[in-house]
Amino acid sequence: MKNLSTSYLGLNLKSPVIVSSSRLTSTIENLRVAEENGAGAVVLKSLFEEQIMYHISALDTSAGFPEADDYIAWYTKSHSVEEYLNLIVKAKKTLGIPVIPSINCFSSRGWTDFAKNIADSGADALEINVFFMPLDRKKSAADSEKIYFDLIERLKDKISIPIALKIGFRFSNILYMIDQFYMRGVEGVVMFNRFYEPDIDINSMEIVPASVFSNGDEKRYILRWIAMASAQDIKINISASTGVNSGEDVIKYLLAGADTVQVCSVLYQKGLPFLKVMNQQISEWMTKNNFKSISDFRGKLNWLNYQKPGVFERTQFMKYFSSVD
Ligand SMILES: Cc1cc2nc3c(=O)[nH]c(=O)nc-3n(C[C@H](O)[C@H](O)[C@H](O)COP(=O)(O)O)c2cc1C
Repeated sequence: MKNLSTSYLGLNLKSPVIVSSSRLTSTIENLRVAEENGAGAVVLKSLFEEQIMYHISALDTSAGFPEADDYIAWYTKSHSVEEYLNLIVKAKKTLGIPVIPSINCFSSRGWTDFAKNIADSGADALEINVFFMPLDRKKSAADSEKIYFDLIERLKDKISIPIALKIGFRFSNILYMIDQFYMRGVEGVVMFNRFYEPDIDINSMEIVPASVFSNGDEKRYILRWIAMASAQDIKINISASTGVNSGEDVIKYLLAGADTVQVCSVLYQKGLPFLKVMNQQISEWMTKNNFKSISDFRGKLNWLNYQKPGVFERTQFMKYFSSVD
């Protein structure tokens, strides 16, 4: 097996393949299996902003829990914040690989003080899965963007462990946003989160969830932005996420310039031991192409290094479409 080591958020990883946040990373048993099969790091299942707010309001007897729908109220009560902090402590005791807890949030309000509890539990870094849904047509893109910046500034005030922001790709200018995150001290970006999307069942005429698991085609939206973001002269780490089904897919993201690659759907479908197969596939490809380390080829095909950078700048493919009858 080749040396697959890499660095991410200032941490040393034995492999660039990270198990991304989901229920798969919610038990010590699963985390152990992930490590045994070669995961470079694990991102724990997310703690939700609502859970933190419930915890805070339960400590303060004068405050009521804010309005929440039944599911959120049930979830926050049955999945306690203490349980989450215990998971971090136990994971740190049990594993040798970095443990990265995750918080899902939609505002920069009240909950940010709590991040200190996570840092104090021994977390190696913190991933913030953040999306503010723009629901108000009177608010500009700049208004929405400011919420991200306020959030980062608050978190950076409270904790000193590295922060990775798991973001969506629906910004007017992703490169500007990443630059702004970096200027505020954010160490990494996860590109990109895959959101819940509604679909329509035409038989029942109901709104239903679109597919929970990703497919390989979804990489097409992401490769370009990783290739462009990794070509910037800023030292923010990039972790690719979405659509990785094999070691070959990991290699694509690394060639585009990602430092690490997160996997979720494929592990639900094939089991955590599939991590070993992915590492093997990366290693075999490196042997075939004479690469001794990940840094030998990381970013080789990004916007800066590829000999025809124009391919990343084009969106309208006149030649491509005109040849399809
Ligand atoms: C069942 C399931 C649960 C997930 N739970 C979380 C979560 O709690 N927090 C989070 O940040 N992402 C969560 N995700 C998103 C994944 O971490 C990942 O970003 C997304 O699935 C895209 O990666 P993939 O194409 O490898 O599946 C979840 C995904 C799935 C399929």
